[in-house]
Amino acid sequence: MNLNAAYPELLFNGNCITCHKTDNLNKSAPTVQEIQKEYKNAFADKKEFVDYMTHWVLSPKKETSLMQDKIEKYGLMPDLAYDESTLKEIAEYIYENKFSE
Ligand code: HEC
Repeated sequence: MNLNAAYPELLFNGNCITCHKTDNLNKSAPTVQEIQKEYKNAFADKKEFVDYMTHWVLSPKKETSLMQDKIEKYGLMPDLAYDESTLKEIAEYIYENKFSE
């Protein structure tokens, strides 16, 4: 088993998946696939994707959101006080991973 590859997945599963599920049965937040798609549409470049997502999640704000329709629907994501290096690993994982339902 490759622990280095599994670690960001554990971080995502531990910190984000309670709200960002891969299916839409629990409608309290957008699915991770919706987020990945929206951010890939906005940022072709991996580094830009990761930087923007990391900084947005560090301090969620309506003004800088790429998903205004989701804020209307679910309310703004709470500020969960994650640390920046953890968020960067999670954002890289969200960029790279193929999520299935
Ligand atoms: C308590 C529930 C909750 C948790 C936990 C949570 N989120 Fe969210 N998140 C939301 C909701 C609700 C939205 C949709 C509204 C919005 O965009 O603010 C959202 C939106 C987002 C967005 C879209 C931002 C935009 O441009 O609007 C990203 C990116 C995101 N979350 C990443 C994460 C990551 C990464 C984690 C784990 C570190 C995480 N979230 C944990 C509730 C949560």
